[in-house]
Formats: sequence, C-alpha cells, structure tokens
Amino acid sequence: MLPIFILVLLLFILITLIIITYKVNAKKAGIEGVKTGFIQAQNYVYASIVLVSLAMVATLYIILQGTIWQAHLMEWMNIIVRLMHITFGIAWIGASFYFVFLENALNRTENVREELAGNLWAVHGGGFYYLEKYKVAPKAIPKHLHWFKYEAYFTWVTGFCLLFIVYYFNAAALLIDKNILNILPWQAVSIGVGSFIVAWIIYDLLCRYVMPKSKVLFMASGLLLICVFAIFYTHVFSARAAYIHFGAMLGSIMAANVFFVIIPSQKAMVQAAKLGKPLNAQLGKNAGLRSLHNNYFTLPVLFVMISNHFPSTFGYKNSWLILLLISVGVAGVKHYLNVREQGKISVWVMPVSILILLSAAYISAPPKPGVCKEDVSFAEVNKIVQLRCISCHSAKPTDDVYKAAPNGVMYDTPEEIVKYKDKIMERAVVTKTMPLNNKTNITEAERDALRCWISQGAAVK
Ligand code: HEC
Repeated sequence: MLPIFILVLLLFILITLIIITYKVNAKKAGIEGVKTGFIQAQNYVYASIVLVSLAMVATLYIILQGTIWQAHLMEWMNIIVRLMHITFGIAWIGASFYFVFLENALNRTENVREELAGNLWAVHGGGFYYLEKYKVAPKAIPKHLHWFKYEAYFTWVTGFCLLFIVYYFNAAALLIDKNILNILPWQAVSIGVGSFIVAWIIYDLLCRYVMPKSKVLFMASGLLLICVFAIFYTHVFSARAAYIHFGAMLGSIMAANVFFVIIPSQKAMVQAAKLGKPLNAQLGKNAGLRSLHNNYFTLPVLFVMISNHFPSTFGYKNSWLILLLISVGVAGVKHYLNVREQGKISVWVMPVSILILLSAAYISAPPKPGVCKEDVSFAEVNKIVQLRCISCHSAKPTDDVYKAAPNGVMYDTPEEIVKYKDKIMERAVVTKTMPLNNKTNITEAERDALRCWISQGAAVK
C-alpha cells in the first residue's frame, strides 16, 4: 500500500512541476523561452526519476526487512552512496584548494589592468592557461558563467544519506553506546540532526557579529565552539559515531556557507551588475571569508572520513582530545600551505602543527602493560572469546543486530582465533574498541588474559 501511495504522490508532483514550468515559460516569448522551458522540464523529469528511484529503494527496503537480503541491500546502498559522496567531495575540496591557491598565488603587481585584482599563468595537462580576477565584477556579466555549487550540495546530501544508511538505520548498534549514554534511537538521531542546525546558527552568528569586530576573538570563540561539540558528541554517542558527527557538523557548516552565504552573495552581485547598479563589495568579501573558512575545515573533515579505520584514535579514553588535536594540527598544515602559496615566509606554523599531531600520537599510545602470570592457557582464552565475542563473530551469530559475522571475522575454531591474534590484540586489548561498545561486558582482567596469551606466543594447547 505504502509504495503505491509514494509512487502516485511522486507522479502527481511531477505533473504539477511540468505544468508550472510550461506556464512560466509560455509567458516568455520566442524560441529562447521554449528552449529554457524544455531544459527546465528535463531537469524536473530527472529530479523525478531520482525521487522515484529513492521511493523504489525505500519500498525494496520495506519488502526485504528481516530477510537475509536486508544486509546485502544496505551494503550496496552504502557502496553506491559512499562512492558518490567521495566523488563529489573530491570535486568540492579540489575546487576549494584550487581557488584558494589562485587567490593566494595571483600576480597582483606586474602588468595588471586597472579593473583587475590580478592574473595568473598556469600550465596543466599540456595546455597553457591564463586567468584574470576582477576587483569586483566585469562591466558586462558574460552569458556563460560557471558556478561551483552542486559539488557542495551533492557532497552534503550524499553524506547525510550515508549517515542514515550507516548510523541512523543501525542506531542501536553503531550510534548508541549504552556505556556512554543510554538513549533511544529516535532521541540519538534527533540529537545528531539537531546538533548540525545548532552548530550552524552559532557559527553564523559568530561570523556576523564577532568576526567584524575582532579576528582574535572570532578565532578563540570558533575554537571553543569546536571543543564544545567534540566533547559533547563523545559524551552522547559511541566513539566512532561521535567522530563522524563532528565531521558531519563541520561539513554541514561548509555546505550551509555555500548555500546561505556564498551563492546568494554571488547572485546578488550578478544581479546588480546586470542592472548596472553599484556593487556592494562587502558581499564579495563575506563570500570570500566563508570560502576561506571552508578551506580550513577540509582537512579535519577528511581526517574524520578515514578515522573509522583507526581505532587508536577513537578508541582512546578521551577520544575528543585526539579528535581536536588532529583537527587543529591538520588545519595548521593547511594554513602553512596557504601562507606559502602567498609567497610569505612562515617559520613556526608547520613545526607547531606537526608538534600538535605528534602530541596526539604520543597521548594515545597504550600504557605500559602489567606483568603477566605464567602461561595463560588456550582454554582460558577460548572461554573469554566464547563468552564475549562469539555472539557476533561466528558462522551463526546470536546477536540481535549482527546476523552475519562482522567483516567475515569468526572465532569458532582455535585456528581462527590464532589467525586473528594481532587484530584481537589491536581491538580488544590496546584500543578496547571490541566487543563493539562492550555489548558483552568484557572485563579488564579478561582483556589482560587475552594480551598475555598473545604475547606469550598464542599457542593452542
Ligand atoms: C556486538 C557484536 C560484536 C561483538 C560482541 C564483538 N564484535 Fe568484533 N566486530 C563487530 C563489528 C560490527 C565489527 C566490524 C566493524 C569494526 O571493525 O569495528 C567487528 C570487527 C572486529 C575486528 C576487526 C576485523 C577486521 O577485519 O578489521 C576484530 C579484530 C574484532 N571485531 C574482534 C572482536 C573480539 C576479540 C571480540 C570479543 C572480545 C569481539 N570482536 C566482539 C562486532 C562485534
């Protein structure tokens, strides 16, 4: 019933949109009006196809729920959306790096016409390029003006979908850690989504009211803001979900900068230029600053995107500290690159950034292990594994969420346990990121027994 309802609704939306488009464009005379009308109708058709496909996936999800294909569907959605996310993300971050580089490296002094801010020669892919930047805007806005916005919007939309696919549909298993905060899935999801909105509002207010008054105060309050969010997330969500939310929060601010400030400013500038009105140079400056903030957010967000592979970061007991140190450190590296591109000398930015990053590595190093009792037996280890791990890591898991062995890792036989001994050491002893959110309540003494057995050679006897 539900899928049919969704399809009919979408069909209805589609028809309405086509009619609106037709009416709007019928008013415009001539072949141009028909052409733009056609292009717009085509866009609506594409948009509708996307919406219908989404509805079909949702239907499929409902049909497959509870069957063995549910996990398979989720995995493929994950693959497709993740590929889209990184592709758009690369396009967006690439453009951010490129334009900030352009801005930094512009020749502003030699042979620059009065109306220009600067120019730049470049060679790439076997061709020579010559670019000019206007101080404010050209006298006539060219007919074909390229905008950079969809890479930002699509990165955000796909990222948001990924958040649902990986964390929100699976909130009980991956988003919530009952040892950190025992909340219901809907509460956790609301906190997650709500936090992005709150972060944006505070950041935007800081940009509007604090930044123009004092740059130092703005930077200090910005730093405080990210500290508060890092601490907040790690005290509400499971450690890895906290990291992802921190990145998603920064990513949302970046996309909102594009959507609410940069693009509207540019539209206003284009409009003013078309009408021959005087241009408000402040609009361009605001957009430029937001775009520079985005540039500094890129590397911290990239770290978060790969952070799930590194249990030594999110597995550290004060995981927010490592997150903050790495974010500040890599933003510092970006700052160094920006300063260098401007041809300025900077002595301390890079060494300080590297020191901050190294301090994160140092702080998160595992503590010195205690002394082991002689010969921990395999029987003892096997008992621990059976009790704490097998509910998920088995050919036939009994866990309520994991119906197939996670990552294909099983501990049903002694050989399997030995085979994975190094990873067991990494996840269950050093970083303590297994059992997942300590769902099976492993004790410190048991972790120690695992460590001793592995360090004594992991013998099965
Ligand atoms: C509640 C389910 C659950 C329990 C219990 C559990 N794990 Fe896991 N385990 C997972 C999931 C999910 C993953 C995949 C995600 C990840 O790597 O964090 C995983 C991954 C792993 C990995 C990484 C495998 C790889 O390919 O990198 C290791 C090692 C591991 N678990 C060891 C253990 C050990 C040892 C125990 C028991 C002390 C244990 N797990 C208990 C769910 C569980």
